[in-house]
Amino acid sequence: MKLDFEKVASYIGTLYQGDEATKNRYIDDTELTRFGTVVGSDVARMMQMLLHLIRPDRILEIGTSIGYSTVSMARIAREYGGTITTIEYDEQTARQALKNFEQTGVADLIEVKIGDAREIVPTLKESFDLIFQDVGDKRLYPELLNSLVALLKPGGVLLAEDSLLPAMDVEVSMLKNLNFDQAKWKHLMDSLVSLEEFNQMIAGCSSLRSTLLPIGDGLTIAVKIL
Ligand SMILES: C[S@@+](CC[C@H](N)C(=O)[O-])C[C@H]1O[C@@H](n2cnc3c(N)ncnc32)[C@H](O)[C@@H]1O
Repeated sequence: MKLDFEKVASYIGTLYQGDEATKNRYIDDTELTRFGTVVGSDVARMMQMLLHLIRPDRILEIGTSIGYSTVSMARIAREYGGTITTIEYDEQTARQALKNFEQTGVADLIEVKIGDAREIVPTLKESFDLIFQDVGDKRLYPELLNSLVALLKPGGVLLAEDSLLPAMDVEVSMLKNLNFDQAKWKHLMDSLVSLEEFNQMIAGCSSLRSTLLPIGDGLTIAVKIL
């Protein structure tokens, strides 16, 4: 029997319509209209389940955008006394995320670091129980991987979104988009190369046990075992 992932995702979506409505409300309540794409409600739900299992004290997120994934995590982290550091390059987007954190009542749990993750990550001194890699510039996935593994506590979990894009027909679906110019095309191709490099690094990393889940655009889950 062949699985049609789109059909499966849409069936699961019908079971959890409330989660999709929560995400849509979050976006509707956001004043900013242009921002980095946020995770799907299926990915947010998976992250929340993992947070219930891991009960992390310290969480690091790379790529805040308007903070939908951050708030999804913060709602669970609060139950276990956890806090989040999140990094966002774009100042206007970060300011909007801060407003959203106030509005949703989770601002006290979240520290936003505004700037390039490439520069901020090496300055972080503490270690984390959970790290969520969702930065828009996918070149940073392989570039920052070793630093992020070093920041993870033993038994800590690294999550990464978009990791199955190299296995999807993204070129075909993007070509159907009339606004897709040459610069966007090059960015997409570079992203696919970086994600493939990241996937190979993760799969071959002796200090991680990992897998890729076919939800959203692919969610990598890796546990630090050494
Ligand atoms: C996919 S969005 C994050 C979505 C968010 N995690 C969510 O699901 O709600 C990626 C974000 O990474 C940011 N970004 C891109 N390059 C960056 C960099 N070098 N350092 C920090 N943030 C960066 C973008 O501005 C964008 O807001």
